[in-house]
Amino acid sequence: MNKPSIRPTQGKLGILLPGMGAVGTTFIAGCLLARRGLARPIGSATQLGTIRLGNRADANVPLIRELVPLADMDELVFGGWDLFGHDALEAAREAAVLSREHLDAVADELAAIRPMEAVFFPEFVRRLRGEHVKRGGSKMDLAEAVRDDIRRFKRDNELDRAVAVWCGSTEVHREPTAVHQSLRAFEEGLRRNDPAISPSQVYCWACLREEVGYANGAPNLTEELPALQELARETRTPLSGKDFKTGQTLMKTIIAPGLRARQLGINGWFSTNILGNRDGEVLDDPESFKSKEVSKMGVLDTILQPELQPELYGNMYHKVRINYYPPRGDAKEGWDNIDIFGWLGYPMQVKVDFLCRDSILAAPLVLDLALFMDLAHRAGRFGLQEWLSFYYKSPTTRPELYPENNLFVQKTKMKNTLREMVGESPITHTRDEVRS
Ligand SMILES: NC(=O)c1ccc[n+]([C@@H]2O[C@H](COP(=O)([O-])OP(=O)(O)OC[C@H]3O[C@@H](n4cnc5c(N)ncnc54)[C@H](O)[C@@H]3O)[C@@H](O)[C@H]2O)c1
Repeated sequence: MNKPSIRPTQGKLGILLPGMGAVGTTFIAGCLLARRGLARPIGSATQLGTIRLGNRADANVPLIRELVPLADMDELVFGGWDLFGHDALEAAREAAVLSREHLDAVADELAAIRPMEAVFFPEFVRRLRGEHVKRGGSKMDLAEAVRDDIRRFKRDNELDRAVAVWCGSTEVHREPTAVHQSLRAFEEGLRRNDPAISPSQVYCWACLREEVGYANGAPNLTEELPALQELARETRTPLSGKDFKTGQTLMKTIIAPGLRARQLGINGWFSTNILGNRDGEVLDDPESFKSKEVSKMGVLDTILQPELQPELYGNMYHKVRINYYPPRGDAKEGWDNIDIFGWLGYPMQVKVDFLCRDSILAAPLVLDLALFMDLAHRAGRFGLQEWLSFYYKSPTTRPELYPENNLFVQKTKMKNTLREMVGESPITHTRDEVRS
């Protein structure tokens, strides 16, 4: 097979985060610690993951980063925007995710990272008030100011290229309008301050105009919009989303494929969470929760496919709750009660109590998304990157396709895409892999 060409990693890669709160600062601090050898980047496929090539008998299983040319941790430069002007050290301390020992070890580097002024329209995140925000002018002026920020950041840090991962708050639920249907309508909407254009859409537009790939870590309405997809195609820049797949949904997309594979029926799946970080506070607003709910609810349907197996999944009651409970901070607890039934219809129950740490689960996804989006860009891939569905709670696909939520199918797709990028054969598991 011919080896496709991927532009090599030369020089530094900027990772720009709109939103430098708990997830953003835990990600940055973790990278700084890992590159000094003070902690391990656990949970990151780009750093620790392996990938088999050829038959099992070949025993050829390199690290993913040995197979595809990814930016090295030492080549990363971090920046971003936030509503609050605190540097990354102060923000990380406030988020209270990492220990004092960990933060002290990289305090100087964190303190040097100051967020740029945010684009913020309070009607999209009603529980927060912006202090450190760009003011005046039209939404187009604000978008152009973000483009200036990106150019300055690249110039000041002598970057070769940059990629953005949205780590900002969850915006309120909105349906697309006419302004989102084409790039022309959207740019016109920016000029005349169309109220349907959200801050995340402004960042995304500015990034794509600057040929900076954009990954959406929240359930915001962004990468699925025809206008932004058109721009991604025009500028040949990658786009992906949405909503990091971390705690409860990660568990759901691990467990549900197993139950379905064994043809066990499900009557009900009740999921509830308590969390007390700022994300929890924002999600306490019913309109922001609505975005999250939509993103969380879709996963079971596409895994269980009740339309194909109504006897097993046609009557399933699925409920998701998120409760803001300040004493827990970032240490979220997610309970799942699953009412299942087996042979002859006899009922059984599965209970999951996941005591997780939200930002600890999300940080490696930010790293992987940034590095894989940059890889995709250098490999000449642009527009929606469906092979990164592995990382998302609600993967955006082409409109004619249903999203694939099964974590194991997502993993296979991601690894086969990586193999394909370097001219290796996909692994299909379809035959006994003995040498002919
Ligand atoms: N932690 C997880 O497991 C997880 C999983 C899936 C999705 N997410 C999403 O990731 C996002 C970040 O989560 P977090 O726990 O870090 O939240 P956080 O509240 O600690 O941080 C979000 C930051 O974004 C900033 N912000 C809000 N609007 C902004 C704007 N327009 N421009 C720039 N900055 C803006 C806020 O000031 C805040 O500092 C949330 O949307 C959350 O829903 C997190």
